[in-house]
Amino acid sequence: MEHIKLNIEKSLDFVSKEEVFKYEENSKKHLTSLHEGTGKGNDYVGWVQLPSQITEAELNDIEATAKKLKEKIEVLVVVGIGGSYLGAKAVNDALAHSFDQLNSGDENPLVLYAGQNISEDYLYELTDILKSIEFGICVISKSGTTTEPAIAFRLLKEMLEEQVGKEEARERIVAITDESKGALRTLATQEGYKTFVIADNVGGRYSVLTPVGLLPIAVAGHDIKELVKGAKAMQDYTVETAFEENPALLYAATRNALYEKGKGIEILANYNPKLHNVAEWWKQLYGESEGKENKGIFPASVDFTSDLHSMGQYIQEGQRNIFETVISIAKPNHTVYIPEDKNNLDGLNYLAGKRVDEVNKMAELGTQLAHVDGGVPNLHIEMPKLNEFYLGELLYFFEIACGVSGYILDVNPFDQPGVEAYKSNMFALLEKPGFEAETKKIKERL
Ligand code: PA5
Repeated sequence: MEHIKLNIEKSLDFVSKEEVFKYEENSKKHLTSLHEGTGKGNDYVGWVQLPSQITEAELNDIEATAKKLKEKIEVLVVVGIGGSYLGAKAVNDALAHSFDQLNSGDENPLVLYAGQNISEDYLYELTDILKSIEFGICVISKSGTTTEPAIAFRLLKEMLEEQVGKEEARERIVAITDESKGALRTLATQEGYKTFVIADNVGGRYSVLTPVGLLPIAVAGHDIKELVKGAKAMQDYTVETAFEENPALLYAATRNALYEKGKGIEILANYNPKLHNVAEWWKQLYGESEGKENKGIFPASVDFTSDLHSMGQYIQEGQRNIFETVISIAKPNHTVYIPEDKNNLDGLNYLAGKRVDEVNKMAELGTQLAHVDGGVPNLHIEMPKLNEFYLGELLYFFEIACGVSGYILDVNPFDQPGVEAYKSNMFALLEKPGFEAETKKIKERL
């Protein structure tokens, strides 16, 4: 079976093979402790064996719920923030037609997102556009108490109930939350919404292969069974494969070896804009998992070749504290040839008859060599194709590598204590009941 591949050759001018292989024993040990639940944050490693444990019945339930929604709605609004929406958006955008909003041939509902910001304009424009549209809501919050999605859900729920009546609204709202705790669970029980549970032992940013990701992906018309199959293939592959061939262990080891050499920023680059939101998902995964105790590689991302005309200058010649990880898709899903032009005013006839992807691949290779020459180590991930199966492999690869990498760094990759700081300041400033002392203190600072 073909898998996604990792090539670290173009980073070996910056770290030696020995410096990477020095992590061999530890990374194998960390992989085992993720599977056995014996490492830091072991209450949150339920995602490690999720691809092999998720049942056909669970997947069928998600698909049946998606089908029911699809019969009623033109738009599904996914309400959630962070790990409660980034995975679904990553997969949906990677698999969608690039011009989905104009693609009338697609019979699946359009999936939109809310509750991932508190912008008044965003919410106004969303609710305004939904006035004349048959819509449903998938509200996702593990804690059930996060402010951003709670505000968006309050607005959208009220609007939907006005539009179609309370009874019908109940049929169009699905809640994904904790089994028993939190305001969303209480509301869902009161209202009788269809619900799915986010297991206690799966944190938000590792939840894409639970209903959190799978329901919105199924509603958009993608094959969630293939996605899980890909993730399962990568789960097995990373368990069975020796260090030198194991993409997850090698990735974790190489990035830590580079970090030790002062490469504190990792840029995830793609040459297909459909992967833009895979990078957004990856940034949360790595940023929240590793950025703590004054440690961690800063995850950044670029879309090439677009960003070669903006960030390219910095990457080539700026401060030399970065390395680059490229996700490359071996074969595009479509074929476009560059046409011959008899006047050849643009001088492009030397490319006539070539596929656009051939030019893209040469841009990729040329950029890789230029960046390596400029002092930027390069890691290369190749996906055979952009489809559900290989996306499943890619997501699981990044997740398991993140767990191993976090353990190499000696942090708990499954908590996010730093996320609370802004929340408590915001609550103090908003004079939330219970925050009286914090309000008094923060006002003295203004
Ligand atoms: O990774 C995480 O746990 C966080 O980013 C959460 O996903 C995010 O804060 C949303 O939390 P909740 O699902 O509880 O609303």
